[in-house]
Amino acid sequence: MSDVTAGINGFGRFGLHLLRAWLDRPDAPRLAAINDDYHDLDAALRILAGDAKVSFADCAIGADGDTLVIHKRGQAPWRIAYSHGPARQAPWRGQTDWWLECSGAHPTAQQCRELLGGRTRRALLSATCDDADQTLVFGYNEATADPAAEIISYGSCTVNAFVPLAHWLHGRYGVGDASVSVIHNVAPARLATLHQPERRTCTLERMGPRLLPFLAPQRFFVDYVLIPYTGVSLIDFRFRLNAPGAEADLLDALDAACRGGELAGLYRLAARDDGPQAWQLSPESAVLLRSRARLAGDTLSLPAYFDNENSAVRYLDLLTALVRRRD
Ligand SMILES: NC(=O)c1ccc[n+]([C@@H]2O[C@H](COP(=O)([O-])OP(=O)(O)OC[C@H]3O[C@@H](n4cnc5c(N)ncnc54)[C@H](OP(=O)(O)O)[C@@H]3O)[C@@H](O)[C@H]2O)c1
Repeated sequence: MSDVTAGINGFGRFGLHLLRAWLDRPDAPRLAAINDDYHDLDAALRILAGDAKVSFADCAIGADGDTLVIHKRGQAPWRIAYSHGPARQAPWRGQTDWWLECSGAHPTAQQCRELLGGRTRRALLSATCDDADQTLVFGYNEATADPAAEIISYGSCTVNAFVPLAHWLHGRYGVGDASVSVIHNVAPARLATLHQPERRTCTLERMGPRLLPFLAPQRFFVDYVLIPYTGVSLIDFRFRLNAPGAEADLLDALDAACRGGELAGLYRLAARDDGPQAWQLSPESAVLLRSRARLAGDTLSLPAYFDNENSAVRYLDLLTALVRRRD
């Protein structure tokens, strides 16, 4: 891959998972810089040494002035410029090819456009963005990338969990309507302030129909509940299918698609339900539970787990694919 560089703004849960995924992806573009408005370099080093979930035990990590140095066994050391402060003041702004907006603090395309300049001509958001030039979901529509697009959204954890699956089901069985129930975790730092489950609207409810032409907004519902829990989240899908056939045949076809077909790497159909924590750091966008799946009449219920924070893996898949297309 050419010497394309990227800088991450936002070293929260998503940024941490993204860095871990990056170290395991030698084909990704070069990560040149990280900025975070909340954590300074010392705090980032503490997180890297002691996060309860994301381990960097295979790396020697230190600082050289303002540079984060990560030496993963078997690789040359990575030197990543680290800055702490508002995004606009990041000293490396304008010096990387991509601005990876992973802070949640610049949710609109206009706010992201203000961060471009110099060598930096494109931003990739780790969240849905209504006015992005494009929303590209890896495994669904990344091949439609417009070379002129500057502000690109990768969707969200729930968008990535739903869209390729719905697309595949529609292609084989025809989707009449769909609904999704999400029980979503919170970051450990937010636990103290969330005292009870909180119902929220989910951006998937408007992005699903925008991305999938067969899905009418009035035929799609999402229930989303944030709960005071930091583990792997739950996401249950329900589809009304036009011609579903027999349950076992449908699940066999889904299994084959997950193992080596259109959904390979994106989903897994797990034979048993070993609980959500069994899927911590799972790279799939959702792990579907065969033992709990049901086809009742024309309605397919597919309960699943998803490590929402680790959808950073899909984000990196998308970035890598976009850079490769432009090589
Ligand atoms: N987490 C996920 O599952 C997930 C999945 C897909 C996409 N995303 C997206 O990625 C973006 C970033 O999400 P995130 O989950 O990485 O956010 P996060 O971990 O909650 O961090 C974001 C912000 O939270 C505050 N913060 C972080 N650590 C803190 C601590 N120890 N104590 C107090 N406050 C702290 C800081 O902002 P303040 O100083 O302003 O409080 C920080 O900039 C968002 O757009 C989100 O929608 C997240």
